Amino acid sequence: MTQKKIPHPHNTRAPTAPDATRGRRAGGAWFVTGTDTSVGKTALTAALVGALRARGAAAIPFKPVQTGGRGRTALDIAAVRRICGLTETNAPDLPSGQIFTPACSPHWAARRAGRELCAAELARAARAVRRHADWIVAEGAGGALTPLNERETMADLMARLGWPVWVAARPGLGTINHTRLTLEALQRRGVPVAGVVFVAARGERPDALERENRRSIEQMTGTPVLGRLPYSPALARGDRPGPAFWRAAKALLRAAPAGARPG
Ligand SMILES: Nc1ncnc2c1ncn2[C@@H]1O[C@H](COP(=O)(O)OP(=O)(O)OP(=O)(O)O)[C@@H](O)[C@H]1O
Ligand SMILES: [Mg+2]
Repeated sequence: MTQKKIPHPHNTRAPTAPDATRGRRAGGAWFVTGTDTSVGKTALTAALVGALRARGAAAIPFKPVQTGGRGRTALDIAAVRRICGLTETNAPDLPSGQIFTPACSPHWAARRAGRELCAAELARAARAVRRHADWIVAEGAGGALTPLNERETMADLMARLGWPVWVAARPGLGTINHTRLTLEALQRRGVPVAGVVFVAARGERPDALERENRRSIEQMTGTPVLGRLPYSPALARGDRPGPAFWRAAKALLRAAPAGARPG
């Protein structure tokens, strides 16, 4: 399929309606983690969901654990749905995972609610939601070693699921350290990693530092940096990002390694 034929989330009349006529319904599941909180995981999740839907897959976001929220729909799922233009008509809003009001680590939020999270249960819930869509993109909370309880971490959930993991990382200073730490934690647990994506959430421009960060990460970890999501002023305002963001999102799918690439 040439890029020209891919309907863009923003230039088609039914922007995110899956196109069943293309026969591109092979399913899949990805997990998005990040090198830190607020690094751009939700932006990356939205980019992947939007790009998959532009290819005709009925992709949906999922958030196994959301802290700092309330109600039926996790805040990050609501954000992805807004960014991708998902509606009840083109993508039913399935129940989110566990939602806790305090904006803190999942292990503490759960304890404050008199509960204990369990990686096996979260994995079961994620697999159950997966059955309702061609493609599910699950966003973790915090980073790889964010605790679910006193023993288990987000990385343990990722290991149980075995879904290729996309790592959202900052493009600039400090990212080599944070990205290597994250990748080591994932590799130790045998988590399959699709690659790293730089998210320019603070308006970073591609520069020599970013190029060197990319080269270093790839050479020192053997994990590809699959691309970058550019800064989108609209996204920063809470609106839907423009064409440059979606072009970068589609390029990520093309850059995904075999085994993580959509059909
Ligand atoms: N490419 C971008 N352009 C502009 N703003 C961005 C971009 N990516 C992320 N942001 C903004 O940066 C902030 C943090 O991004 P985001 O919510 O995606 O991070 P996160 O890792 O999902 O955070 P959390 O740990 O809370 O889930 C948000 O306000 C978001 O709108
Ligand atoms: Mg998020």
